[in-house]
Amino acid sequence: IDLTLANTLRLPCHAEHYAAPGTLSALRAALAYAHAQDWPVTLLGGGSNVLLPEQVPGLVLRPALKQWWLRQPKGAQQGEVFTQVGAGVNWHALVMATAARGLWGIENLALIPGSCGAAPVQNIGAYGVELADTLQAVQVMELATGRCYWLSTQECAFAYRDSIFKGELADSVVITQLILRLSRMPAPQLHYGDLAARLSATPSPLEVAEAVCAIRREKLPDPEVLANAGSFFKNPLVSDEQAAQLSRQYPAMPHFPQAGGQTKLAAGWLIDQCGLKGMRDGAFGVHQHQALVLVHFGGGDRLGLMKIASYIAAQVKTRFGVLLEPEPRFINP
Ligand code: EPU
Repeated sequence: IDLTLANTLRLPCHAEHYAAPGTLSALRAALAYAHAQDWPVTLLGGGSNVLLPEQVPGLVLRPALKQWWLRQPKGAQQGEVFTQVGAGVNWHALVMATAARGLWGIENLALIPGSCGAAPVQNIGAYGVELADTLQAVQVMELATGRCYWLSTQECAFAYRDSIFKGELADSVVITQLILRLSRMPAPQLHYGDLAARLSATPSPLEVAEAVCAIRREKLPDPEVLANAGSFFKNPLVSDEQAAQLSRQYPAMPHFPQAGGQTKLAAGWLIDQCGLKGMRDGAFGVHQHQALVLVHFGGGDRLGLMKIASYIAAQVKTRFGVLLEPEPRFINP
């Protein structure tokens, strides 16, 4: 089964077996079947944040639970509305549907590619908001037993582009549903970048989502047109000390102090300063409008991508002494 079109980087990939179950019982049955056949199981969401190998043995499982509903929880605070959403729902579609209904909470996360089920894995974030800010609970199914249970936000151990689903629970559960806590009470989050400058003082959630879409379209390549997986590197966390030293040397360097004596730097800026924006090496290149995004012009494979990524990381390390780590997940055969 060809999965080249099932990953937005368009890396060539073949799977032995593939299933996209649309209900919890179909998902449980697919897992039981794979178990009986002794097939390893690899999970895939929208394929927008993965580095796939050329061959995947066993079963590739893409949860396709597509239901979602809105409800007012008992004892909810004024204006609070919960949305319960299946893992297979497209994330951006959920953002636009809830924003259009006047609900606040995830409007800044518009146009992030991928499925709702994948969103908690890397705790998707953009324009000053993270999934963890509105997430109430995550339902998972154990791969080994088919048993479902819910995790609270605290139990998900969210951090910047990180969660328990990349750590302790990696490869042992599949995310099946999310519950998000949204609100009818206006709560615009406009402090990041030039978002506020593009909007009135009292925007609707739909207007915020549309402004975010406009900013993203200006900077980020559309994966349908030019293959990519969004930011290729995480923004690095360095000690406050190292950040202060770099700031003295490069006063224009963007830096964002975090809790715990660490400062986040902008990987895109570091790469850009190395003069690498727009560079090309064979099938891959650095996007011309956002140096953090690697693009695939076609005909390349994961090895070629790793070659340009290592080159970029080495340049940044030499110039700034800062280590860049890839942001998409490696799927290993
Ligand atoms: N910058 C440059 N040159 C570049 C790119 C960025 O100088 O080529 C500078 C910008 O001018 C700005 C700073 O770096 O001062 C940060 O840039 P930007 O606001 O574009 O965001 P980012 O840090 O590069 C992060 C996320 C994005 C998210 C944006 C907006 C990560 C790894 N990336 O990018 O998420 O959309 O912030 O919140 O945290 C993704 O994860 O795939 C992704 C696209």
